[in-house]
Amino acid sequence: MIKEIEILVLGSGCTGLVAALQAHQTGKKVAILEKMDQIGGNSKRASSGMNATETVLQLKNNIIDTAQEFYDETFKAGGKMNDPALLQYFTTHTNSAVEWLKAFNVELGDLTTLGGMNKPRTHRPTDTSPIGAYLVNKLFDAVQKADIPVYLNSKAVKLTRLSDQRIAVEVENNGEISRIKCNSVILATGGFGASQSLIKKYAPQYADYKTTNQEGSTGDGLKLAHQFGAQLIQLNQVQIHPTVQQDNPHVYLIGETVRGEGAILVNTAGKRFINELDTRKKVSNAIIAQETKHAYLILDQQVYRRVKALGFYESVGLVVKASSLDELAKAIHLPAADFKAEIETWNQAATNHYDQQFGRQTGMHPFNEGPFYAIHVAPAVHYTMGGIHIDTQTHVLDENGEIIPGLFAAGEVSGGLHGNNRVGGNSIAETIVFGRQAGISASQYLNETK
Ligand code: SIN
Repeated sequence: MIKEIEILVLGSGCTGLVAALQAHQTGKKVAILEKMDQIGGNSKRASSGMNATETVLQLKNNIIDTAQEFYDETFKAGGKMNDPALLQYFTTHTNSAVEWLKAFNVELGDLTTLGGMNKPRTHRPTDTSPIGAYLVNKLFDAVQKADIPVYLNSKAVKLTRLSDQRIAVEVENNGEISRIKCNSVILATGGFGASQSLIKKYAPQYADYKTTNQEGSTGDGLKLAHQFGAQLIQLNQVQIHPTVQQDNPHVYLIGETVRGEGAILVNTAGKRFINELDTRKKVSNAIIAQETKHAYLILDQQVYRRVKALGFYESVGLVVKASSLDELAKAIHLPAADFKAEIETWNQAATNHYDQQFGRQTGMHPFNEGPFYAIHVAPAVHYTMGGIHIDTQTHVLDENGEIIPGLFAAGEVSGGLHGNNRVGGNSIAETIVFGRQAGISASQYLNETK
């Protein structure tokens, strides 16, 4: 384990990997600590894609989009509780984030539309595979090529200000404590969606819900920062994701792109009950309002072809497949006549692009190609919108709104960008936009103080 470094990044999800690469590009010495025994954090579970506007890919597809529309839709979806400055910075930097990724052979060549958005803005790998593992692998390759040290099983447990203004990070590794002195620390440790005690404390209504998060998402970075004087904000803003398969001990998130590419939701009466591409908050609440508190995603072969992850969901037994709608209804115990009538109504709505029932406007395709598929879903804890108070340059702020010198935070550990509802595809975009900014700001701090 190193004893000193210029910039120390805590966490190895996309935010941490990006921050480290960006700091390395400015010529700084940087290392990454990861408390788990593998890299990737929650990022490697991300499914649908990365939102960005005014990109070359959008223009190639004749999608005229603007950062202002992105801002407005995200602000509305977030209940207007988003920090306006963070959101402004975010929505105007996604295009350069997509361009920056290209240097690491990240090719996002396909587009989809997720909940709460009106335009195809979600960039995803060309073969439609889940973005998280794809990005983490590409970024980690680059980290290794750059010889940036990554220490696994290494949990930062305390930050202390030294007399020379540097920060000492106490690290627990295999039961031993060591100390790393650094000029600045970037917190990229993720949220607290896997901490039952924190969920119970801040969002008790979800205390009994399962989670989509990896087990390391326990809010350690929040505690660390708070003990060092950081202000924590909006901790009660916890997102539940509407489409999570949880019939087995292992919980599987069914990516929003499945709805983005055309799937609908029906209840046990075989009826739709919501615009499936409304915001996560609204769709989750609509499922919970059903008598059984769960629902079925329904799709046909055309949707299946447009989402690579569906092959994986099927391979692990999450998908019911049938050659006709009658058979599908029978397999999942829906009243066949009502279900088929509902699909007929949906097919009309999709053909005419007019959903009189629920006003859906995106991802509309008639189900006219078998086989047909169903996935049983219910909401689960997915994302923590609150966290460390930062400014647009990712400086960590104290209770008085003052910058804590040398301390930076980005990604899910930070709070304020998403308001009371994160839009699907904004999290990966956030990791790149603010991960980069954290690497730049930590480098700038070094330039000014060393
Ligand atoms: C999803 O694809 O639905 C999950 C990824 C995200 O939360 O953006």
